[in-house]
Amino acid sequence: MAADRTTLLILGASGDLTSRLLLPGIATLLRAQPKRSLEIVGADLRDLGQDEWRSRVQTAMAAAHGEGDAGELGATAQHVVDTTRYVAGDATDPKALRALLESVDCDRLVLYFALPPHVSRMVCEALAEVGAPDGAILAIEKPFGSSLDDARELNALVQRIVPEDQIFRIDHFLGLYTVLNLLGMRFANRILSPLWDRDSIAKVEILYDETVALEGRAGYYDTAGALRDMIQSHLLQVLALVAIEPPASIDARDLRDAIGQVLRAARVVDPATDARRARYTAGAIGDREVPDYTGEDGVDASRGTETLAEVTVHVDNQRWAGVPFVLRSGKAMGHIRKQAVIHFREPAYVPRGFGGRNSADRLVLDFRPDSFAIHLTTNGKGDPFTLEQSVLRGELGGGQLEPYGEVLASILDGDPRLAVRADAAEECWRIVEPVLRAWKRDEVPLAEYRAGGVGPRGWRSNGEAQD
Ligand code: BG6
Repeated sequence: MAADRTTLLILGASGDLTSRLLLPGIATLLRAQPKRSLEIVGADLRDLGQDEWRSRVQTAMAAAHGEGDAGELGATAQHVVDTTRYVAGDATDPKALRALLESVDCDRLVLYFALPPHVSRMVCEALAEVGAPDGAILAIEKPFGSSLDDARELNALVQRIVPEDQIFRIDHFLGLYTVLNLLGMRFANRILSPLWDRDSIAKVEILYDETVALEGRAGYYDTAGALRDMIQSHLLQVLALVAIEPPASIDARDLRDAIGQVLRAARVVDPATDARRARYTAGAIGDREVPDYTGEDGVDASRGTETLAEVTVHVDNQRWAGVPFVLRSGKAMGHIRKQAVIHFREPAYVPRGFGGRNSADRLVLDFRPDSFAIHLTTNGKGDPFTLEQSVLRGELGGGQLEPYGEVLASILDGDPRLAVRADAAEECWRIVEPVLRAWKRDEVPLAEYRAGGVGPRGWRSNGEAQD
């Protein structure tokens, strides 16, 4: 038996996440790293049938390889298509789960939970009863749990099954390049590093405005909303990397210790005033008509689900005391904006006699593709007596892999650096829960914004006009 025979067993294989993100991620990984040996087994309650499953795997491989059909795939991708199989069954039932696990013959098993949190939990309960094969890795999709208590219980449960270093709580925003680019920007130069604190920085914004709307995901999204979907998981992780103290190294332990330290210091001071929510109404994004959110199939308007959330977080430590971190994410916005904006304080003193606009400097870090722009106040081009902003731009490295390809590569390599550790998953719930409670009590109105616009009337961000 070859020492590296790995099987990726996807639970929830008939779902949207598997076809939309996971299979394409695996396909790009195998294209970039064809020496990997992998078997994929799909499993789900719904009986997809072998042919349909194989065709989904083949489509993903063909798309990544830029080929029309699997006959033209590379040997590795072809092998994956040839050997893949699908098992219909209920993984929450210990008997069925045992049979499923026994049907897999490999050296190393990765169990990928592409399931909603409550189902993941039921499968983990069954797995705790049945026992996981030696060395098995559990990869669990976000959201990890559905509340702080739930995440704590789920952590205790999964840690009974395998040790923490075999648990990969997935956050695909923690792509290797983005994480390394943020750390390099912070620590690898003498310009920004000394300025990275409350003395020089007035405010940080972490923004993730998407032009996509619901995309048929009401079953999940309408019970989650933007705060849980994007801020509880992804944006708080980005905040942690922006605000992190210098880790001793970029290995998994140092990095995750430092991330945990920032998250433990983070809180929403007043959930009734430091968080806002809104929901989109009908509109158009380019030439795409978007229906009112409440008119989408599967949406229950009475749930009051927000599609845009903004939360101001403070990090209570010496470096960041008093600096607001504004986290915002919205769907069906007019423009994509995926960036962190570091707003520097105004200079303490500018000699009298300069005219023009002396705006505060800022660093904009764009995500995927990663790049940066430094907006710096300098002398006006035509007239050195005036001041204006010059922009210095730079590209940052990107990977060959889709975010899910990176996530899977780190799982297959057993490198938990990019996975969310148990304490971090709990902290993220702890930070947002006061806001969720305030919203449940209706202490914060649910505003509206037109799909394709810039957000609700009256919300201000960087002086942009709002509609
Ligand atoms: C997912 C959210 O985790 O991240 C989606 O569930 C969101 O709602 C997506 O659209 C954004 O990530 P990306 O990589 O598609 O920009």
